[in-house]
Amino acid sequence: MSNISKTSQSPEKCLKAESSFQGGYFQFKQLELEIKFLAADLVQIDWKYPVPPVPYGIIAQDWPMVETTFEQRQNEWIISSSKLKVLVSQEGSITFYTTDGQLLREELPPQRQGQQWLHQAKLQLEEHIYGLGERAAPLNLRTSPNTDEPPRSYQMWNYDMGGRYGPGADPLYLCIPLYLGLHAQGSYLIFYENPYRATFSFKDVARAEFEGGALRYYVASGEPAQLLKRYTELTGRPVLPPYWAFGYHQSRWGYETEEVIRSVAQGFITHNLPLSAIHLDIDCQNGFRAFTIDPDRFPKLANFSQELKERGVRLVTIINPGVKAERNRKLFEEGIAQDIFCKGEDGKLILAPVWPGMCAFPDFTNPQARHWWSRQYEYLLDLGIAGFWHDMNEPGVFTLWGDATLPTVTQHAMEGRGGDHREAHNVYGLLQAQAGYEALRNYQPELRPFIVSRAGWAGLQRYAWTWTGDIDITWQALAQTIPTVLNMGLSGIPYTGPDIGGFKGDPTAELYLRWFQMASFLPFCRTHSANNAKPRTPWSYGEPTLSIVRKFLKLRYSLLPYFYTLAWEANQTGYPLIRPLFWLDNEDRRLWDVEDSFLVGNALMVCPILKPEKRSRRVLVPKGHWYHFWDDQVLEGKCEIELDAPLEQIPLLVRAGSILPMETGQRLILHIYPLIEGYSQGYLYSDAKDGYGDWRLDTFTLAREEEGLELIRSEQGNYDFPYSEIELYLHGMKLQQVWVDGEEITDFSPEKLVCCLFNKVRLIVELMIVDS
Ligand code: GLC
Repeated sequence: MSNISKTSQSPEKCLKAESSFQGGYFQFKQLELEIKFLAADLVQIDWKYPVPPVPYGIIAQDWPMVETTFEQRQNEWIISSSKLKVLVSQEGSITFYTTDGQLLREELPPQRQGQQWLHQAKLQLEEHIYGLGERAAPLNLRTSPNTDEPPRSYQMWNYDMGGRYGPGADPLYLCIPLYLGLHAQGSYLIFYENPYRATFSFKDVARAEFEGGALRYYVASGEPAQLLKRYTELTGRPVLPPYWAFGYHQSRWGYETEEVIRSVAQGFITHNLPLSAIHLDIDCQNGFRAFTIDPDRFPKLANFSQELKERGVRLVTIINPGVKAERNRKLFEEGIAQDIFCKGEDGKLILAPVWPGMCAFPDFTNPQARHWWSRQYEYLLDLGIAGFWHDMNEPGVFTLWGDATLPTVTQHAMEGRGGDHREAHNVYGLLQAQAGYEALRNYQPELRPFIVSRAGWAGLQRYAWTWTGDIDITWQALAQTIPTVLNMGLSGIPYTGPDIGGFKGDPTAELYLRWFQMASFLPFCRTHSANNAKPRTPWSYGEPTLSIVRKFLKLRYSLLPYFYTLAWEANQTGYPLIRPLFWLDNEDRRLWDVEDSFLVGNALMVCPILKPEKRSRRVLVPKGHWYHFWDDQVLEGKCEIELDAPLEQIPLLVRAGSILPMETGQRLILHIYPLIEGYSQGYLYSDAKDGYGDWRLDTFTLAREEEGLELIRSEQGNYDFPYSEIELYLHGMKLQQVWVDGEEITDFSPEKLVCCLFNKVRLIVELMIVDS
């Protein structure tokens, strides 16, 4: 993209300013501006443009009333709510303050040249920047390779990495023009409602250069949690997936026949390993065609999927958007007859090569095309396929040179108003996911859809999961996964994870193991590899790898109630399941750059091993007290310490004050990690593990009473409590006496007791943790 020159158009002087509904309207000599508060801490800024964006990212159009004031000062106007002040200058710069006067963000007047926009904001000295969707970059996107060099720049253009990428590659498959600024005076989030190709960079200023479209954006203020809440109110809350999606997924490009898959599934049983899903890559298709199954290699898929389901294993199949261009094939002929496919300016079909050969591409910006596409899933659903994996949907095509996607002149319906691929490219995968989601909702209204999409845009969380694509088989790539997943979560996409072990090639046993240990705590826990890789299952590497992987898989399965409860929380609030450490204390600046550890919810801190032959590592611990998961030792946070990491474990810490719900069979295990002072709390969300029926939320609170401790359970919702017994597992204390709902129990050990569903448990304990 050419840089916007100094001669480009800026707003120039303000000629007219007036208050408008919950905001203000400004007529500058060159540009018009409309500012509107959607909530006290969320503002829409619209530099008027003749063609407004199609609201693909936005879900909330109606917002409750907000009280705002509009006042004029000497050279500026101030629009305020109870939380945020927006100052507009005569020249069109916009500054955001909290109501107590903290400077959040200082924007320069935008500049426009031809169809391009340049939007800049001054960054504070220590300001850290996060987000931008999926990035192979440091957690803090402002980190420069070298201070004298130009800043890293980040492209907004969903891109197929073609089989391999490592740290520094840009762009990746799923770009979102959103970032979060965190500095000493507060934090904010900005989301540009513009899917055009853009370039972002962050040095003294944050620069966003868009190749076209409107300059309409949203600024939210508040703590990171509140920012995610507002952003997902605007763009949609993450779906609540079926429970099984949090189990382990085994995948490989190269599972060529039913027999091969049967033996993989059998291997999990033989080796006593839990398994929830197997993914079928393009090898299951007939000539790599979308919505087909090869009849020779999968002759009885309906029976086979049923057989696997009875063992608790679901099948997920790949779907690529390209439809093979071939006469006399129903899918292609129908698409032609119904005018579904993308065309060029000359009205001719756009064809490009992907796996099956030359393909036509449905125009997902056309509602009829989405509808037509959504009808195609039925065939696979009838065969018992439980979920779909949308690949190559940037869309990626095979070219020897140039941009490996559709030509920018490709025409798109854009819901009827018309546009071209420059605008439609980044929303292509999002709209395919929407079509897939609708297919599953219509076909099986009693089940919740499971879709994994490689590409996407703002709002993908409403429909699908994603994964981090064709990541390299290196230790650096393993380490990259953490900031990538964290920045995705801060961009509203909570469900992601890597190909365990990397995509193309064969990781060493140690790399595979360390990768597995980390991924056991990520939302999407899937091993996947390319067709040239050796089979990669937990038993491929023999012992001790197999036993250690088993231990981590079993730990993962026992943590499923916690993951599921966090998914419910994500669905209610937009909070990511995987959080950066500063989520717990954004005033502790040491945490702003931590990208080698992560939080699962607020209770668990995971510190993976990211280098070969390491048997211990440094860990930066946030404030508060923390328990070692493996041996219950307590440490005081706000420190940096070296922790052991023999091959069979990685440092795992549990925040004091947490009650962690875990399970084994029909037994719920509440792991209670008390604080010295104050109360401890945990939640448990339950429902039928799928569908849209009744649900319940149990809240467990442990508080200090005059004599001992009291654990109170309160409930919401109508679903029956799903466990037949509850084990209370006490950490950092020894049980001496206990009453469950008033009745004394004598059958207990110093650390645990088993009871039925209770309302109140009174505990006399000896506290083992000492005040420091
Ligand atoms: C792409 C996908 C990869 C898949 C392969 C073959 O590279 O990213 O996951 O295995 O295509 O379908």
